[in-house]
Amino acid sequence: MRHRLAFIGFGVVGHGLVELLKEKRDTLSDRYGFEFDVVAVTDLLRGSVYDPGGLDLDLLLGGSGDRPLDSYPGAEHGQDALAAIRDTNCTVVIEVSYTNIETGQPAYDHFKTALEAGKHLVTTNKGPVALFLDDLEELARERGVHFRYEGTVLSGTPCLNLAQLCLAGADISEIRGIMNGTTNFILTQMEHGMEYADALRQAQELGYAEAKPDADVEGWDAVAKVVIVGRSLMGLPVHVSDVQREGITGVSRQDVEEALQEGYRFKLLATVSRSGGGFTASVAPRKVSLDDPLAAVMGPVNAVTLVTDTLGEVTIVGPGAGKRETGYSLLVDILEIHRRVSCRT
Ligand SMILES: NC(=O)c1ccc[n+]([C@@H]2O[C@H](COP(=O)([O-])OP(=O)(O)OC[C@H]3O[C@@H](n4cnc5c(N)ncnc54)[C@H](OP(=O)(O)O)[C@@H]3O)[C@@H](O)[C@H]2O)c1
Repeated sequence: MRHRLAFIGFGVVGHGLVELLKEKRDTLSDRYGFEFDVVAVTDLLRGSVYDPGGLDLDLLLGGSGDRPLDSYPGAEHGQDALAAIRDTNCTVVIEVSYTNIETGQPAYDHFKTALEAGKHLVTTNKGPVALFLDDLEELARERGVHFRYEGTVLSGTPCLNLAQLCLAGADISEIRGIMNGTTNFILTQMEHGMEYADALRQAQELGYAEAKPDADVEGWDAVAKVVIVGRSLMGLPVHVSDVQREGITGVSRQDVEEALQEGYRFKLLATVSRSGGGFTASVAPRKVSLDDPLAAVMGPVNAVTLVTDTLGEVTIVGPGAGKRETGYSLLVDILEIHRRVSCRT
């Protein structure tokens, strides 16, 4: 079966997915009967390009200079995101534009336009998923299309799929984890003797933290993820405003050292638990006992423990960001859509 892909946003993650599609084209065809064309790409910074017959992946990846997509030869140009979704022959929309955790926009409009137009949607963009998951899933159901968002939590490390597919039938009473790699890197460096400000600067130099690091160090990024796992994996009506939030800016090197002497390690823990008939959700620096698997997770790595009625505690550890790693989450989602659509026909 042949799928026609459109990219909305074409930065680090979009490039990561196109590299994987190029590298694995033959394998995907042989193993799964998955065939594809990338027909449209639109990006605020890089320009836009559309060819209903399919674009050359090397040319997409190889462009240079200002707005390289605008000079792609022999194709149409000038579509904005909504036109690339609505007015092209794409069948799968890959939304990898900017994350806005306050309003979800403009990505929320991209999501709705794709689903309303009857196109499958995959994304790594946390904002609209954290804010509008139920509405989006209902719209996808109504229109008979698939909406998948594995990469919004732990990038390509299969947290959502693990719970939804491999823990089917289990009841999950709590999910807790290290859902932000930047803060875990900073806390790790503080344990190695750095002051918070120096560790943050190093995280910025290495590309883990943004110049404006609040989304990470104040816990907002992890808040969005805890909302997504609470809703998606536990069926809880968690809103961003329900999550008690505290970042790591108040943790000193001395706190980290003292905790270690007592047999604990500071982690920015994101937790959602059933309690009574309701739930509690928080993101906060916590002392984690050194014999907890989460305590062993160091550097810019993510991990999640799912507390289940069937297996007890199950912990998954892996990358939570990166070009190839996050691009891979989209590939997994697209292959799952391919599997479901192929089974139906
Ligand atoms: N990188 C990771 O490891 C990672 C991991 C998990 C999730 N994510 C999420 O994945 C998404 C993509 O991340 P990324 O690292 O690829 O970001 P990126 O490199 O900044 O790329 C995003 C691109 O989308 C463009 N864009 C923004 N608004 C747009 C619009 N309305 N229409 C078309 N293009 C638009 C941006 O242009 P401008 O620069 O001009 O705004 C930028 O070129 C984000 O939502 C991010 O939070 C990333």
